[in-house]
Amino acid sequence: MTPISTPGFAAALARSEAVTREVELRPERFRVLTGERPTGPLHLGHYFGSIAERARLQRLGVDVFLVLADYQVITDREGTGNIRENVHGAVLDYLAAGMDPEQTTIFTHSAVPALNQLLLPFLSLMSEAELHRNPTVKAELQASGRALSGLLLTYPVHQAADILFCGGNLVPVGKDNLPHVEATRLIARRFNERYEPIFREPEALLTRSPEVPGLDGRKMSKSYGNAIALGASADETAALIRGVATDSRREITFDPGARPGVSALLSTAALCTDRTPEEIAAEVGGGGSAALKALTTEAVNEFLAPHRERRARIAADPGTVREVLRRGNERANEIAEVTLDRVRSAMGMSY
Ligand code: TRP
Repeated sequence: MTPISTPGFAAALARSEAVTREVELRPERFRVLTGERPTGPLHLGHYFGSIAERARLQRLGVDVFLVLADYQVITDREGTGNIRENVHGAVLDYLAAGMDPEQTTIFTHSAVPALNQLLLPFLSLMSEAELHRNPTVKAELQASGRALSGLLLTYPVHQAADILFCGGNLVPVGKDNLPHVEATRLIARRFNERYEPIFREPEALLTRSPEVPGLDGRKMSKSYGNAIALGASADETAALIRGVATDSRREITFDPGARPGVSALLSTAALCTDRTPEEIAAEVGGGGSAALKALTTEAVNEFLAPHRERRARIAADPGTVREVLRRGNERANEIAEVTLDRVRSAMGMSY
């Protein structure tokens, strides 16, 4: 699913590189807002793709806001599934990965009414044609195999509310989410022109880390059953890796096109050991899939052991996650109410 056209992407990448340098020089100028849909457990793809980057930004001293976008779960599916478990699991992973609730505000859409209310004025700033043109919405519609819901069509505008309610000006995202940052900039600009200049236009920060392939060579995704959850046990991880479909050639080589399973194992082991897939292939040599699987299992379990230990320690007190969410939601509400007040008064709605 790569709906983004290349010329726009190259420009966004160049801009993102420039912003990366600016953040390192002046972290105090930035407020990060990013997040994810709690549709399943966070996995290794999230770790390398986004969580490590957020922890890095936090260490630089940037103010970080993380939304667990629970209302976005129902854009493309029926029902909320194991949403409570997914939200709690994500908070555990954030904390285990070093996100500090003193510096990072972790909140859920559904607990912040004033954020959601921003959707109404923002929707008035977009035409139906513009909503239909969003390439990621189109791709997600296709992938869902369902009729287009009103929420799927408008969720980029909801995402603009996530970003603008807290004055987020730096949005770390994968390229799928670039059109939403563009929509957010447009909405901020139009609101500022039509009423009063109260919103900053955010910048996208494209994740630089390599994409982690799923165990079958496709994108790592819970819905493909090819993802290694951060919170899985060492035994569950071993079983998942044992089940990867490889081939019968004993000589191990890195060739993602022709040997997706073997190559995905090599990529996974390489990321977890900070080596290259080719180096690992050479090391396994003629050892075959069994040796490669044993090596990969050890690499993943060793890499994740400290994370899993911290996660288990935090999970031992169920009050911790609830308290982090309570405080995060409280802070998000305070900020959202101030923003909504400014929006209403800019629109002449103070009675
Ligand atoms: N749409 C994002 C995803 O695909 C999740 C998300 C919701 C988000 N709100 C956001 C990302 C605001 C960045 C900024 O996972």
